[in-house]
Amino acid sequence: MHNNTDLQSFKQKTNQFLQHLTAKEKIVVAEIDSLRQILRFHEHRYYILNDPLISDFEYDQLYQALKETEIANPHLITPDSPTQRVGSSINKSFATLPHLVPMLSLENSYNADDLLDWDRKAKEQSNLDNIEYCIEPKFDGASISLIYENDLLVRGTTRGDGVEGEEITNNIKQIRSIPLSAPFSKYGIQQIEIRGEIVMTKAAFTQYNESLIAQGLSPLANPRNAASGSLRMKDPKEVAKRNLDAFFYHVSYYNLSSRPLTVDRSMKDSELQNYQQTTVEGNRLTVNPLSTHSNSLQLLWDLGFRSPQKEKQVVQGIDEVIKHVHDFEMMRDTLPYEIDGMVIKVNDFALQEKLGMTTHHPRWAIAFKFKARQATTKLRNIEFQVGRTGAVTPVAKLDPVQVGGVTVSSISVHNEEYIREKDLQIGDTVLIERAGDVIPQIVKSQPELRDGTQTPIDFPKECPVCKSPLFKEEGEAVWRCINIECEAQVVEKIIHFVSKDAMDIKSFGEANVRKFYELGLLKDIPGIYTINFNALGTLEGFGKKSIDNLTAAIEASKQQPLYRLIYGLGIRFVGETTAKALANSVNHLLDFASKTEEDLQQLDDVGVKVAKSIHHFFSNEQNIAMLHQLEALGLQLVNTKKETVSSGGLQDQTFLFTGTLSRLKRSDAEALAEEHGGKIVSGVSSKLNYLVVGEDAGSKLEKAKKINTIKIITENEFLELVGKEL
Ligand code: IVH
Repeated sequence: MHNNTDLQSFKQKTNQFLQHLTAKEKIVVAEIDSLRQILRFHEHRYYILNDPLISDFEYDQLYQALKETEIANPHLITPDSPTQRVGSSINKSFATLPHLVPMLSLENSYNADDLLDWDRKAKEQSNLDNIEYCIEPKFDGASISLIYENDLLVRGTTRGDGVEGEEITNNIKQIRSIPLSAPFSKYGIQQIEIRGEIVMTKAAFTQYNESLIAQGLSPLANPRNAASGSLRMKDPKEVAKRNLDAFFYHVSYYNLSSRPLTVDRSMKDSELQNYQQTTVEGNRLTVNPLSTHSNSLQLLWDLGFRSPQKEKQVVQGIDEVIKHVHDFEMMRDTLPYEIDGMVIKVNDFALQEKLGMTTHHPRWAIAFKFKARQATTKLRNIEFQVGRTGAVTPVAKLDPVQVGGVTVSSISVHNEEYIREKDLQIGDTVLIERAGDVIPQIVKSQPELRDGTQTPIDFPKECPVCKSPLFKEEGEAVWRCINIECEAQVVEKIIHFVSKDAMDIKSFGEANVRKFYELGLLKDIPGIYTINFNALGTLEGFGKKSIDNLTAAIEASKQQPLYRLIYGLGIRFVGETTAKALANSVNHLLDFASKTEEDLQQLDDVGVKVAKSIHHFFSNEQNIAMLHQLEALGLQLVNTKKETVSSGGLQDQTFLFTGTLSRLKRSDAEALAEEHGGKIVSGVSSKLNYLVVGEDAGSKLEKAKKINTIKIITENEFLELVGKEL
């Protein structure tokens, strides 16, 4: 979408804006549009190209600047502003609307013979010896149709019955790789209907399922279900949480405004070279990007859509098709998303039209379906494993079987309810599926094959490790061991603490944690910092060098930033993002000990459930004692990053004035704080940094006293802070 010249100018504009922001210059109304363009540019880099140029923090600053400018100038908000994705209201119902062109299905093929047959018919019908084909992945998701009018996304619909679909525009807007506007008019296109597939990447699927499991819910079966189930969700915010993606592979309809599909010379050469039908007549350039299928994919890509531009392959004749689809099948597992085959399309649009369609499918396209990665095997046993939060997870032990190139012998079956839903019994024949690099699953049992030797699965009533009784919270599917001294939990907690995303103690690893624990050299998290290395020296496999490395890694971890420590503590529901938000909200980790659940809920990313869990953790005396111990051992419990920010000025510090000031008018005092980079807020919460108190301060002062991160200062102290001599 952008060439090098654009890149330079966007980089320059981005820097200018970031500098403006730090200087706290007001962004003038006329700059809103420019700011939107900058944000769209960075969204495209991030969501389509997977190659961001700026940090999330910098993006957030720009986004916030736009948001604030729009709040101050609501009449300037446009429907395609980057701020207009979020906050859509709840969908009450979904209207049924006709597609501009029916959404047909595809004919399927399963082998080379099927493809040869199809090619022969197409050649006969078109009187050609050889046909040019465009091949692309068959995305395994949920199909949708979008309409853009005058460059603006006006409608998104599900496939429905192919003739009519349900309007799901609000949900579609939550998918960040779908542009809210695109410059179709540059090519003279006034209205266009495009087709594509909503998919969930394998990584997003794994992450989403992990979050479901952490909440005690059953995971979703595969990325396709995760994508299709999200389209008709009532709450668009839930759709946003699923981090969906979208590929667009078909232009089903377009109409032109008065301008034809031509452009003038100002259009960059590099862009034109991408299209086959480009003619130069004197000073005029004519480009028709909609003459072949591969060009239409190029057009969509150039306009900011994720089309299979990089994945597509144009080939001459069916033999090359057969070779390519087989080659592609071999590397299907290396893709970041699921595909269930390839789609082969006649490349030339004029020829497509000549071939036409049946009532069911176009004759110019065919799907080549990959072999299903399924297998059957015997379920031999269920083992119950205890995780770091005490959750007891049943794991099915299977007769080893090959599925999609890997041997599977063990599969998590999540919880008691899941076992019941799948009707699993020990001794059952079960159907296994492996979707890409996604963890294998049991699709179903085959009760019709039972021979009387099967036995039902009894879920234990006590912890398989420490034997204390298990508990299940209301509304949860997971049984838990609540004995925090349970050995299994202790070991898992230490493993989590040293892991890469937490304290990242290199070369410590799961195996070493287990070994040290079994040898009695390590019994809890603080114990990591007091391991008796003399005893270690006598162990096989631990030479001086490995001990030195381990000691250095342990020592280095003491300087890890606070958020890593918070994440490493393994507080339920506190993932990395929440840990970062938490770390930034305090000066010292133990400040959390005096926070109420309400205080915690004020923080970004912290809802009722998370607040409750954090509060629970910091109300536990043993946990507090452990944190004191860690501090005494030299770990970083102070938020160092925040200190440097505040010592440099009042940048982003929040102020609230209360009571009667004696030297300054309230409005002048507020202006003074803002001049020095501060922000004025309207109420007392943990987001407040300074409460400036005058005479007769009342309830605000009382409330602020309870939150120990708030600095309560007098008017004179405030004047000192902003450098005004008294
Ligand atoms: S073209 C008129 N291309 O597969 C032609 N479809 O089994 C419209 N699909 O309904 C379809 N990837 O939802 C096309 N690259 C691709 C595709 C694709 C996935 C889906 C689509 C279609 C279904 C047919």
